[in-house]
Order: sequence, then C-alpha cells, then structure tokens
Amino acid sequence: MIVLGIETSCDETACAIVQDGRKLLCTVVASQMEEHASYGGVVPELASRRHVELLIPVIRQALSEANLTLQDITAIGVTNRPGLLGALLVGVTSAKALGQALGIPVIPVHHIEAHLYANFITHPEMEFPATALVVSGGHTDLFDVESHGVYRLLGRTRDDAAGEAFDKCARLMGLPYPGGPSIQEAAKSGDPKAIAFPRALMPGTHAFSFSGLKTSVKYALAKPDCPPVPDVAASFQAAVVDVLVRKTIAAAKECGRTTVVLAGGVAANAALKVAMEDACSRRGMRCYIPPPSLCTDNAAMIATTASYHFMHRAIPGLDFAVIPSEPLSSHGI
Ligand code: KG4
Ligand code: ZN
Repeated sequence: MIVLGIETSCDETACAIVQDGRKLLCTVVASQMEEHASYGGVVPELASRRHVELLIPVIRQALSEANLTLQDITAIGVTNRPGLLGALLVGVTSAKALGQALGIPVIPVHHIEAHLYANFITHPEMEFPATALVVSGGHTDLFDVESHGVYRLLGRTRDDAAGEAFDKCARLMGLPYPGGPSIQEAAKSGDPKAIAFPRALMPGTHAFSFSGLKTSVKYALAKPDCPPVPDVAASFQAAVVDVLVRKTIAAAKECGRTTVVLAGGVAANAALKVAMEDACSRRGMRCYIPPPSLCTDNAAMIATTASYHFMHRAIPGLDFAVIPSEPLSSHGI
C-alpha cells in the first residue's frame, strides 16, 4: 500500500509518500515563509497562488525522490479541513483530478488529526489511549484520545493559539516571522527568570489563554528598564511552556492516562520538548513528540493518516467538500 499525501492548508506546499502506513519514502515541503514574512503573517490569496505554482513540481519531486511513478500509488490523501479556503481548494482539486485520472481512491484528511498521526511515523511503538496536545499557529487543543479516531476535546484556547502568541510576541520584540523559531533562537542567550510573566492556568478548566501574556510582553517592552530582547524571549517562552506542560499533565492525570502525545508547529520547540519529557518521566508517563520537521506542516502526516483511513474505514467518493473550519471529532476507526 503506497499512499501519496498532499498538504496545502496554509503556507506550505507539501507532498510525501508513505508505504504501509508508517514507512516514510519521501517528504517534500516547499515553504512560502519568506514570501509571507514581509507581511508579518500568511496572506491567504498569495498562499493560494503559490500553491498553484508549486504543487505539481512538488509532487514530481516527491515521486522522483521515492523512485516511483504515479502508477505505483495505491491511494491519495489530501487535507480538506480546516485551513484557508483557497489554499485547501488547490490541494483538494489537484488530488481529485489525479485520483480520477488514475482510478484510485482520494481520502480527505483532517489537518489536526494528521498532526497527531505524525507521531506514528517516528514512534512505531506508540499506542492510544493518550492525552494529546495539538499546538500550532491556529490551534491549542487538548484531547483525550481513547483509541484511533475517538477524540474528546477537553479544552482549547479562548483567544490566541500558542503559535499565534509566539508569532505576535516575536513581532513585538522585533524578531522575524515565524515567531516560534526566532523566539527559540533569541531565548538561547536569555534568562527565563528575567521577567515573571503571568501564567493563565484557569484551574478547574482545560482551557488556555495567551492574550494576557501578549499584553504583558507589550507592557514589559515599553518600560525604560526592560531587559534585553533575549531575556524577554526566554521569559515569554518559559511562561508558554510552563502553562502547556502543567495543563497537559493535569489533563493526563484526570483522565488516568499514562501516555502524552504532542503535535503541531509549537511542538517543535526545544524548551517545550525538554520540559514535557521531564514532567512525564517524573510521573512515569510516556511522552511522544515528532521530530521538528514532522511537527510543522508537512504531507507525511497526511499520507500516514490517509493510510489508516484507507485500511480501516469506508472510502468516500470524490464529492467531499473543502471545509475551512471544523473541529476534530470522533469517527471511530
Ligand atoms: O503546525 P504549523 O506548521 O501550522 C499550523 O497548522 O498552524 O504551526 C505553525 C506555528 C507557527 O505559529 C510557528 O511560529 C510555530 O508553529 N512554531 C514554533 C516553532 N516552530 C514553529 N513555535 C515555537 N517554537 C518553535 N521552534
Ligand atoms: Zn498545522
């Protein structure tokens, strides 16, 4: 079973090929980051246009790297939700055209489910149940995952997503977009205890909030005696990591889970990885985080998720829709 995955939900044009569900044959990501950087964030129309230009070359490159032809592909997986409407349409329309021409199934994939499944590529021993935290540019979602396809949303952010907070605060600090990697870099030479930024723990809930932290960063930077940017970056990062770790561990304890799974672009953060792995090991919990290249948007996670659906669920027809906004819900593979 060879599944080709296509991802165009935001600003990465990606294609990957996965064999038998977990064996990654190739992964190609054409990032548009530099084009969007001067605007301080993703410009949807620009993203759609670049996907149109980049997708076919990216698919060709993936096939060539895997030494395969289109005739070798068993099925295609494509992100159809959630994401930018025009961007999603480019991937979905191309996938449907390819599927129709080749006479093979096209499997619609939920982007957030795919982020979680990225873990199966590098952690073949991983199994559900688990407590799962998806932290990306658009989401901060905490799930109790009973088994494949059975998701219970415990809580999500009430305002900014964790990645959005990184991006917005980097901008305030004068650091380049995307903010996650640039704050992580600046924080390396900073003191995480320089400023005691607030932690919105909201006890009794599994909700998150990062807008108060953003306001505190703004006020701190405006003070004449504000410490240097690396200290602000390190203190900000420490506050985000602290909240994410404490709330995830609390959720795992409450649900009686001993496995913690992280996913999404912010899971690429080295400080978060160290802190989450440490918190889990102190409590005898297993902690799974994909390598950074599989945390940020990629198509390997789409191909892997599609493989699971292909093996365990009825294959839908080609008439599935593109859905800009839809929470991840259970489908019970
Ligand atoms: O999952 P992703 O690639 O795209 C979405 O689905 O949103 O996540 C992108 C987000 C951006 O906000 C970016 O700043 C953040 O992930 N990010 C990071 C790091 N790398 C990317 N945040 C913190 N530390 C990082 N190393
Ligand atoms: Zn994503």
